[in-house]
Amino acid sequence: GPELAAVVAAGTVDVPDFPKPGIVFKDLMPLFADGAAFRRVIDGILAHHRPDGRSDGFDVVAGVEARGFVVAAAVAYAAGCGVVPVRKAGKLPRKALSASYELEYGEATLEVHEDAFIAGQRVLVVDDVLATGGTAGAALELVERAGGTVAGFTVLMELAFLKGRERLSPRTVHALLTV
Ligand code: PRP
Ligand code: MG
Repeated sequence: GPELAAVVAAGTVDVPDFPKPGIVFKDLMPLFADGAAFRRVIDGILAHHRPDGRSDGFDVVAGVEARGFVVAAAVAYAAGCGVVPVRKAGKLPRKALSASYELEYGEATLEVHEDAFIAGQRVLVVDDVLATGGTAGAALELVERAGGTVAGFTVLMELAFLKGRERLSPRTVHALLTV
């Protein structure tokens, strides 16, 4: 609701021209560093996606390196679930699946261990920010290719002008704050 959106907004610093001229970087580290605010946003995610028998319940959380790890581990701990890291290329020690994508700035590849999920396991995928949707698209694809069922995709902040939500359609996106 509007209260959670305000918490996210208050914890975010806009950094112009980072990492490239013309890009306004959304820095959520002040939000992560504020214990009360961090707890509120994690609780806000759990109020929307509950790890119980509901149709949108989940069994495990997947987080996208690197800033998604902060959110994913906290959500998983609060829910009593495990957490699966979706990593940048070249970091995983065992056989992994890969998906490449265009970023707002540059190109990247994400990977997940091929045995990261039990078949049919319901996976809540989380990240800090949804921008173009390239990262999320690759992460969601990897979860499914690795045998998971996407139970939901949640971000703290969505940049609506970059149309990531449209790119991910028909999948749904839950955002605590849309700007
Ligand atoms: C940022 C952010 C999201 C992604 C969103 O990650 O944390 O993961 O960009 O952008 P997109 O919707 O256009 O793909 P970044 O790749 O900068 O790396 P980091 O999380 O490792 O800092
Ligand atoms: Mg990221």
